[in-house]
Amino acid sequence: MSAKTYRVVQWATGHVGKTAIRHFADNPAFELAGVLVTNPEKVGKDAGEIARIGATGVIATDDPEAIIAMDADCVHFAPLMPDLDMVCRLLRSGKNVVSPLGPFYPFERYKPDFEKLAAACEDGGTSFHGSGIHPGFAGDLLPLTLVRIMERVERIHLYEVIDHLANPSNYIEFMGFGREPDDLLANPGRSPEAPYMFGQSMQMVAEGLGKSIEDITADFNVAVATHDIEYPNGVIRKGTVAGQHYEWSGWSGGKPLVTYHCFWTMGPENIDPQWDCGDSGYRVRIEGDPPMEATVKALPPADGERRYLGLPWTAMAGVNVIPAVCDAAPGIVTHFELGTARTRGLAR
Ligand SMILES: NC(=O)c1ccc[n+]([C@@H]2O[C@H](COP(=O)([O-])OP(=O)(O)OC[C@H]3O[C@@H](n4cnc5c(N)ncnc54)[C@H](OP(=O)(O)O)[C@@H]3O)[C@@H](O)[C@H]2O)c1
Repeated sequence: MSAKTYRVVQWATGHVGKTAIRHFADNPAFELAGVLVTNPEKVGKDAGEIARIGATGVIATDDPEAIIAMDADCVHFAPLMPDLDMVCRLLRSGKNVVSPLGPFYPFERYKPDFEKLAAACEDGGTSFHGSGIHPGFAGDLLPLTLVRIMERVERIHLYEVIDHLANPSNYIEFMGFGREPDDLLANPGRSPEAPYMFGQSMQMVAEGLGKSIEDITADFNVAVATHDIEYPNGVIRKGTVAGQHYEWSGWSGGKPLVTYHCFWTMGPENIDPQWDCGDSGYRVRIEGDPPMEATVKALPPADGERRYLGLPWTAMAGVNVIPAVCDAAPGIVTHFELGTARTRGLAR
């Protein structure tokens, strides 16, 4: 791996983007070259002010053309909504792209997207990598790492547990917390496409085991608030939805091979029924020989505050592989191409 400094652009400054800016400013392996924002109030501000650190000397722009014209090694592309055409333009402009929006793995359903990306990579001599905690780490790279010490794998379960009271974000409203249970069950907050989006991770795991995902099934149930729950943007009323459990299974050879159990709550103690879903974080349980389990969770911080690190983890899952993606041969870079990625400046 080269010892060079990587010039990086942060595209969008939400939760993920701000974490990335703080890291780019702090890690000498990176030089922040540009920041793209959409919020007019952020235009013209120093990136450090937006990320609540000291001045960086990099001023936020809302002009994509200025970013396209800029000399940089990589764009960490983290806006709210996907924009594949813009990602392709960035790749053609000679910048590698790492993005928590994916796409993550060439699953048949997303083949046209990957073909577009591959063509842009070829034109620009650049690489693209879809990153994140899930998809991107907990449901694909982590189980693929764990199976390497097993003798036989029957089925892989991933439990994602997120306490949104500890981690208030716009997902609370977006996901439909506070809605009537029957209403949300009929119209879930997550789009019908979501299981297939996560299906990319299932396919990555399946291919890592020499198999393929042939079908994906979905299940959804909810829990209600046992009392009014206050959070920074409002109140979840007693009897409305305060817990959501999505379960998606990827089938291979006529049986489920990979199942993602996603438990999202407004405080696990505030819901009925009570779900025995464990602490916030990620748990991989593998049925096979020997059966095994691994947990990823944040240790309690010194200040004792309730905190969930899903969004910072998402930022770092991408940021930490930027050097490896920049140094990789041009094209789509999945975890299989990255192998065990070498990080830069992380141990300091
Ligand atoms: N793969 C994974 O594991 C994973 C996990 C979590 C999130 N994600 C994805 O990562 C992306 C960033 O997540 P985040 O938590 O940082 O999101 P966020 O806090 O909601 O920020 C998204 C940013 O997108 C920009 N934006 C553009 N159009 C917008 C609109 N119409 N409304 C609001 N913001 C808009 C804004 O940038 P400016 O403020 O700079 O204008 C905003 O700050 C999302 O697409 C999310 O789905 C992936």
